[in-house]
Amino acid sequence: MATTDKNQQDAEKLAAARAAVKFVKDGDVVGLGTGSTTTFAIIELGKRVKDGLQIKAAASSIRTEELAKSLGIEILDLGRLSEIDISIDGADEFTASLDLIKGGGGALFREKIIASLSKNALIITDASKKVKKLGAFTVPVEVIPLAYQYVFDQINKLGGSGVLRTKDEQAFITDNGNLIIDADFGLIDDPAKLANNLNQINGILAHGLFINLTSKVIMSDGTDIIIFE
Ligand code: 5RP
Repeated sequence: MATTDKNQQDAEKLAAARAAVKFVKDGDVVGLGTGSTTTFAIIELGKRVKDGLQIKAAASSIRTEELAKSLGIEILDLGRLSEIDISIDGADEFTASLDLIKGGGGALFREKIIASLSKNALIITDASKKVKKLGAFTVPVEVIPLAYQYVFDQINKLGGSGVLRTKDEQAFITDNGNLIIDADFGLIDDPAKLANNLNQINGILAHGLFINLTSKVIMSDGTDIIIFE
């Protein structure tokens, strides 16, 4: 991507982040996603906390937790929460009906728990993430290592083709100690059906299809903030 495109995209991410952070109120428990867009939101939240906003947060990854703590945001144990007031996260793709693909950053499992606990699950994006149909971005699938080949074969049986995610020529390992298969299903006609099919496969901890887990997508196109709900 050319530098100007990246600058434009970053400006959109920041604008969406600023719009989302305005929804956070004193006393809220806030779920924090992972990724470059969410990083803008965490930094903006950190500024509000410095100015006196009283919140506690739950983090979807180790890197989000470290960033939030460094900005003075108190982090709670996600595993002890029954409810989250509001969450802010990014997405790799979204449709106007609020179906998402997430997990490009590998934090999909904890992000899904946060979205599931959230009374108000906000997704923030730049304009490049809006699609008519999901699937140009591959669907991340977090797999327990000993089920790797089984899950890989089941993805094939569903008509997909998987690739083991790597980092620095090694298998990418999630914060939960698992592997990720990036699964290409082509453009997805029925995301809910595919999500259901993936839900049936033993050994999958989570997949990146987020269906009925989003309250609003807040998108910036560089000029306007557009809210899908
Ligand atoms: C991480 C995610 C991210 O929200 C998604 O990958 C978008 O990332 P970015 O904001 O960097 O484009 O799902 O697991």
